[in-house]
Amino acid sequence: MELPFAESWKIKMVEPIRKSTREEREQWLKECDYNVFMLKSEQVYIDCITDSGTGAMSDRQWAAMMMGDESYAGARSFFNLKETITRITGFEYVLPTHQGRAAENVLFSYLVHEGDIIPGNSHFDTTKGHIESRKAFAVDCTIDEAKDTQLEHPFKGNVDINKLEKVLKEQGDKVPFVIVTITNNTAGGQPVSMQNLREVNVLCEKYKKPLIFDSARFAENAYFIKTREEGYADKTIKEIAREMFDLADGMTMSSKKDGLVNMGGFIATRHKDWYEGAKGFCICFEGFVTYGGMNGRDMDALAVGLDENTEFDMLETRIRQVQYLASKLDEYGIPYQRPVGGHAIFLDADKILTEVPKEEFPAQMLTVELYREAGIRGCEIGYILADRDPVTRENRFGGLDFLRLCIARRVYTNNHMDVIAAAIKNVYDRRHEVKRGLKIVWEAPLLRHFTVKLAPAGE
Ligand code: F0G
Repeated sequence: MELPFAESWKIKMVEPIRKSTREEREQWLKECDYNVFMLKSEQVYIDCITDSGTGAMSDRQWAAMMMGDESYAGARSFFNLKETITRITGFEYVLPTHQGRAAENVLFSYLVHEGDIIPGNSHFDTTKGHIESRKAFAVDCTIDEAKDTQLEHPFKGNVDINKLEKVLKEQGDKVPFVIVTITNNTAGGQPVSMQNLREVNVLCEKYKKPLIFDSARFAENAYFIKTREEGYADKTIKEIAREMFDLADGMTMSSKKDGLVNMGGFIATRHKDWYEGAKGFCICFEGFVTYGGMNGRDMDALAVGLDENTEFDMLETRIRQVQYLASKLDEYGIPYQRPVGGHAIFLDADKILTEVPKEEFPAQMLTVELYREAGIRGCEIGYILADRDPVTRENRFGGLDFLRLCIARRVYTNNHMDVIAAAIKNVYDRRHEVKRGLKIVWEAPLLRHFTVKLAPAGE
């Protein structure tokens, strides 16, 4: 008999979690203004709000923390981290930051100016925020296939080369760089193929534009290249990662995802002038260039995390758990962005709460319903997150409306996946009873989804 698949680790420390009653959750929903970012974590049974900073560190990472060098300048921990990043990416210049959006802030302070245009594949919301707050524009060049959630495509995160070339041809003088997000979070944790990265690189060379990778989940991207793209089955994750980064000029990184730490980020580049240009902003916003907002011990844990998470077994355990949850949803016929991506399930709210009008935010309503059902917290990646057009101030209803359920790395077991799947099925079975959604009572001018206050529509 063939042995079944199991995790490539065992559990050494546990953290109790608690269930709640439906009555408690009804009350808490009112108190948080139907915005699950405002819940206390004790009010959550299974937390799928993000895979960012929520992973479990390994014994090796905890051991490395004891070796942290907390020197203000020139800490050994920084050089450990830098050596690891350079070994994996080939980028020689490294600036640590306290998280991914801080890396964006530091690098974009140097590279982005008013009126600039930055093409990419479904820029993440903080990336877009850091572009738009500088009165520049993010242009989404993701392939159209990504918009059809039921279409199977192995690399739905890809850049549409024709769309990108059009921007570069017509508005190239305003483009400081191209940014490709690997994996493409907003489109559903969808990978970008090596072939596509190569084609983007060729276009960038043709139009003399630098290429940046938003690399938050670069290792998951490498896993998909290995398992789905011809010619990569026998390459290691580290070889594939290096081949990807060889195509870019630099990267921004949220280490809270594929770095397997709870907090951290960095910029890495092969260009000395970028490093020199950005370092002043790093000192100003983050900290001196050898810590940039990170503790020495956290830099040591990150160095180990980057190494561990660029090994096949770790990634296989992680992504197969997400695929296990997806296979349960297939059993129940529940629509999500197909095929499932690396870090999360993206439920297609438009196809589930079909009676809720888009003006009443179906994915946010689905988020509320799933929490009400079982205390499971997901996160809307839809019309609320899409925010308003910076010029017209109209809601942006043009994209997809997802409820994202992220799976934290090395945290939950497949029993938890079964609970999540059953809770979604229960909501799905009563979907036609949900006819109204939510209305916005208060919103911030930028990145509104974190703090938005909502109320049931029609009340
Ligand atoms: N880029 C991508 C692709 C991301 O997914 C994130 C964060 C960032 C940049 C910013 O990094 O949080 O460290 O400042 N994504 C988290 C999420 C928040 O839930 O998807 P950060």
